[in-house]
Amino acid sequence: MSLDRLHVHGPLADYLDGLGETPDHIAARYEEHAGHPSAQMMTHPDLGRLLGALARQRPAGRAIEVGTFVGISAAWMLDGLGPDGRLDALELSDEYADLTEAWLGGLGLASGLTVHRGPAAETLARLDADTYDLCYIDADKPAYPLYLDEAARIVRPGGAIVADNVFSGGLVADPEATGNAAALREFTRYALSHPGVDTCVLPIGDGITLSIVRRPPLPAP
Ligand SMILES: C[S@@+](CC[C@H](N)C(=O)[O-])C[C@H]1O[C@@H](n2cnc3c(N)ncnc32)[C@H](O)[C@@H]1O
Repeated sequence: MSLDRLHVHGPLADYLDGLGETPDHIAARYEEHAGHPSAQMMTHPDLGRLLGALARQRPAGRAIEVGTFVGISAAWMLDGLGPDGRLDALELSDEYADLTEAWLGGLGLASGLTVHRGPAAETLARLDADTYDLCYIDADKPAYPLYLDEAARIVRPGGAIVADNVFSGGLVADPEATGNAAALREFTRYALSHPGVDTCVLPIGDGITLSIVRRPPLPAP
């Protein structure tokens, strides 16, 4: 038995890129924004498929994302949630909020979508506890611990919280890392020891944490 981790590049990466379906409208959106200066912010298709699968676990469920950009992860989650699901998308930039609303609205896929403009921390603080089945965190990295605290509060027990980019392109392996890489090192430790969730780190895309919200302890007999 090997306890090594595989490096996913070359022929293995090509093989994996050929697996898995991407809905046509999402594939077209990746293409449309491939030349955007911040194109790397779009959620990796492997992670998009995971978000879609998690969203699909609760018919007519509720999901929330922190950081929307041009709507890629929102589209994956709406696809999984189905026509009766609801997604709250939190986005600081009016430009990106407009782009996402216009794109999904134009496709007739925005009936369950609410875009909340402004700093995510302010929006999250207004939301009720135990409301969501799934939360996706993909915004300003230094605020990830705060976003996880809020997510553990607003996601119901048994629900899932995914945070993206915890590898920071591999820079997190450097103990002298600074900036976002240092913030993500700290966040990953925080998520792994958070009392409200069970967390694992998964090498999908740029690395994610997957946290499941703990159920409250049963009352003593
Ligand atoms: C990595 S991108 C999100 C990508 C998106 N999830 C996707 O799949 O395409 C990060 C987004 O977070 C937004 N953002 C940054 N700081 C924020 C904040 N404090 N509150 C809300 N959104 C923020 C940025 O404007 C940007 O659109």
